[in-house]
Amino acid sequence: MLERPPLSLYIHIPWCEHKCPYCDFNSHEASSPLPESEYVNALLEDFKYEYSRLEDLDVELISIFIGGGTPSLFSGESYKYLLEEINLKLPFSNKIEITLEVNPGTAEAGRFISYREAGINRLSIGVQSFDNNCLKQLERIHSAEQAFNAIKTATSAGFTNFNIDLMHGLPGQTIDQALNDLQNVIDRRPTHISWYQLTIEPNTKFYRKTPILPVEPVLKNIQDEGHKLLESSGYKQYEVSAYATETYASIHNKNYWSFGDYLGIGAGAHGKLSLISEAKLIRTRKLRRPDHYTSALNDRTAELIEIPSGQIALEFLMNALRLKDGFSRRQFETRTGLSLDEITKGVESLVNRGLMQRTSVEGQLFISTTPKGYLFLNNVIGEFL
Ligand SMILES: C[S@@+](CC[C@H](N)C(=O)[O-])C[C@H]1O[C@@H](n2cnc3c(N)ncnc32)[C@H](O)[C@@H]1O
Ligand code: SF4
Repeated sequence: MLERPPLSLYIHIPWCEHKCPYCDFNSHEASSPLPESEYVNALLEDFKYEYSRLEDLDVELISIFIGGGTPSLFSGESYKYLLEEINLKLPFSNKIEITLEVNPGTAEAGRFISYREAGINRLSIGVQSFDNNCLKQLERIHSAEQAFNAIKTATSAGFTNFNIDLMHGLPGQTIDQALNDLQNVIDRRPTHISWYQLTIEPNTKFYRKTPILPVEPVLKNIQDEGHKLLESSGYKQYEVSAYATETYASIHNKNYWSFGDYLGIGAGAHGKLSLISEAKLIRTRKLRRPDHYTSALNDRTAELIEIPSGQIALEFLMNALRLKDGFSRRQFETRTGLSLDEITKGVESLVNRGLMQRTSVEGQLFISTTPKGYLFLNNVIGEFL
């Protein structure tokens, strides 16, 4: 039976100083000055609209993620106003995680302090690499020195909980360079590291003119050695690209991957909601163009779809199996509204091939991939297609 899962909020800020050649996020080069206050008002109107979809108005928000784009182009005052207005409508859990993505090229000390005053308690710093040559190829607007300084500024402003985004498999990158980047991140002791292999996405400059990337054996070597380095340095992998120290796995990421609910506001933002009274799950997407989004009135939804019942189990698995710990029977049944029997045949077959495992923790059945299955996640998911 479908039950209401925890609720998060995603807020999208769609502008950047420069569009990076590998990026397919909904981000647009900023024309100055940015329509900051108009956009914040549009976000609040959008939030009120999303709020009207909620069936339980006492539900607490467990996390807010302000992503982009480059959210650090906006001031702390704007976020303070935004968060206060949101909190007038929805209570925040007393352990709420509120993350803001920061680009080291837009990192001023004063801003970081005002972000903390606004209630933001976690930063995600987009370092990507500490190698100036790589940064140049990625057309990042910051240098290695600015990246080191942004981390120092974040910690001096009192952010003890912060993530660093790092990419690997970069044009011309060797195994030593990739491990050196990783060691530099580890030495800064963030609570969380997102370590992404560069992918070439359609509709990007790199897709039209792809740079020479490391060959497959080098990529595999980087992946294997990097993973070992992270784990031996106290960073435990909990999702395909996410590593964290002890209790610092991101609440927002985990809710997203375990098929929790999230409202999505801002240009192009996605949301997912369980409508218990109608026994259905919906996905929403907002107008993509920042100007259309800002000037629209009330409803900025570009698309609203009900997840077809025949696809719910697959969507759940595509998300939850990215988590190393997998999922419990209860999570599967309450978040999909289906019985575990729906997937038993596939699970059985994967268990027999050593790709999946069933464990019991305090009487609760958990299902996850084995270490071997985690390496072949696409094959595992393919079993349920
Ligand atoms: C939405 S971006 C936001 C961060 C911020 N805009 C920045 O770039 O500093 C989130 C992260 O996704 C990663 N990313 C973006 N495009 C990628 C790609 N094509 N391949 C791998 N990782 C990518 C980068 O590490 C980036 O920091
Ligand atoms: S700064 Fe981030 S969001 Fe903006 S273009 Fe670059 S990778 Fe994309």
